[in-house]
Amino acid sequence: MPAVGHTIAIYPGSFDPVTNGHLDLIERGTKIFQRLIVAVLRNADKDPLFTVAERVEMLRQVTQPWANVEVDVFDGLLVDYSRRRGAGVILRGIRAISDYEYELQMALMNRKLEPQLETVFMMPALKYSYLSARLVREIAQFGGPLDGLVPPVVEQKLRAKVT
Ligand code: PNS
Repeated sequence: MPAVGHTIAIYPGSFDPVTNGHLDLIERGTKIFQRLIVAVLRNADKDPLFTVAERVEMLRQVTQPWANVEVDVFDGLLVDYSRRRGAGVILRGIRAISDYEYELQMALMNRKLEPQLETVFMMPALKYSYLSARLVREIAQFGGPLDGLVPPVVEQKLRAKVT
C-alpha cells in the first residue's frame, strides 16, 4: 500500500512500557505514513515505572525492524512539538469504546489548538484490545505471566525492575 503522500505522523504516549499493542499500531502506522515518530512524553504528572531514557531505549530496540520509525522525547504541548517536527498527523490507537471519550476530547482540543493537524485513529488487532501498559505493570509486579503481551526485551526489563 502506498504511503499517504509524504505525511509525517507522530504517535505520542507514555509507553511505560511499550506493549505488543503499541507495536501492532506502530507496524500499521509504518505502512500508511512515510515517517512515523514515536514520541514519549517527558513530563507526565504520573509516577512512572520506567524512566524516560529506559522507555526510549526499549522503544528503539523493538522498532528496529522499521526503517521509517524514529523514537523521540517531547515536552509541553503535543501541537507545538508536531509543528516543530513538521508532522501533519497525530496517530492514536483506539481499543474499545471506553477509549473513545478521552481520545475524542484530546483530538478535538488538539484541533482547536492547531486546526491543520489531523488526528488519525487506528485499531490494534483484536487480541490486543484488552491490553494496557497499566495492566502489564500490575501483572509484572505480582509475578504473573506476560507471554504475548510485551516483547521479550521488555519482559526482561520488567522482571528486573520488580525483583
Ligand atoms: O499514553 P498516554 O498517556 O495516553 O498519552 C497521552 C499523551 C502523551 C498523548 C497526552 O497526554 C499528550 O499529548 N500530552 C502532551 C500535553 C498536551 O499536548 N496536552 C493537551 C492534549 S489535548
